[in-house]
Amino acid sequence: MRVLVTGGHGMVGRAMQAERPAEIAEVHFASTKDGDLRDVAACRALFERIRPTHVVHLAARVGGVWENTRYIAEFFFDNVRININVLEESRRTGVRKVVSLLSSCVYPDGAALPLRERDLHAGEPHVSNFGYAYAKRMLDVQSRAYAQQYGGSYVCLIPNNLYGPHDNFDLESSHVIPAMIRKIHAAKTGGEAAVLWGDGSPLREFTYSHDLAAALWWALFKYEGGPLNVGTNEEVSIRTAAETICAALGYDAARLVWDTSRPKGQHRKPTDTSRFREAVKLPSTPFARGAAETVNWYVANFPRVRGVPAS
Ligand SMILES: NC(=O)c1ccc[n+]([C@@H]2O[C@H](COP(=O)([O-])OP(=O)(O)OC[C@H]3O[C@@H](n4cnc5c(N)ncnc54)[C@H](OP(=O)(O)O)[C@@H]3O)[C@@H](O)[C@H]2O)c1
Repeated sequence: MRVLVTGGHGMVGRAMQAERPAEIAEVHFASTKDGDLRDVAACRALFERIRPTHVVHLAARVGGVWENTRYIAEFFFDNVRININVLEESRRTGVRKVVSLLSSCVYPDGAALPLRERDLHAGEPHVSNFGYAYAKRMLDVQSRAYAQQYGGSYVCLIPNNLYGPHDNFDLESSHVIPAMIRKIHAAKTGGEAAVLWGDGSPLREFTYSHDLAAALWWALFKYEGGPLNVGTNEEVSIRTAAETICAALGYDAARLVWDTSRPKGQHRKPTDTSRFREAVKLPSTPFARGAAETVNWYVANFPRVRGVPAS
């Protein structure tokens, strides 16, 4: 067995490195240094060099709400190309199994809650990220079509909001947890008030990257079937998340300022992970512990952290 993990040096890829089962001898964790997967020839060269029997496909152009909207066409074009190339090369070279990642943010806007797998295509995605969302939905379409026509195993997992070490801490392209860690850390260092967006009331499910990594390794060996919601079902308000980060950083949460002129986002969008939880019992890191581990990693590595400019 030879495993190729595309996007193997991003946040989830690094967590897969850490959670790698001891019995798998040959795993190649690829990054853009191994080739730009938007390019057919580069993708083909990578598959010919590694000759994988199994693929975990994580590579994607990933960003927060601002970047997803600002570059909506690029998010569509880049992600469709990456996905088309990786699955086609997998088929062409006889890969036995491909596990790919979608995202709960690609569900239809206004879908019934909690979000269920059967509703993945049952309506338009949110206007802010429809480029990324349709590219990810096409990954599910390609996976099912390939399994049906060519055989082999192509499965997709649907995680909710992820966070962890090696995340992207750039304020323009990051997700909410790394953005808050960076802002609160900077406020503490500068002795200032940290200004956060919205009013802190929305609820979100935050899954620790290492928990998703364990789910991906499980799925590679054990899961067969349609798209599967994976991750924690602990709903945490943005305000509680910020206060948890403050506690981990030793910053007085009473100094947080909520800028209510900024958008706060949908109130809640929980996922139904009952099929996942019935299929396997895997550890689920409580948010307080995962946030503390992420903050500790950030502090230990600052300023050599992705998205933080070198000073
Ligand atoms: N982060 C979240 O909250 C979240 C939530 C749900 C689903 N997901 C999904 O989880 C997966 C992993 O996300 P992540 O958070 O780990 O993202 P990430 O840290 O940004 O990692 C993305 C990886 O993709 C690689 N990549 C990007 N463009 C590429 C290209 N053109 N050719 C080759 N490789 C390319 C990057 O390579 P380099 O290391 O060389 O830059 C990096 O290793 C993605 O499929 C994402 O859609 C993420």
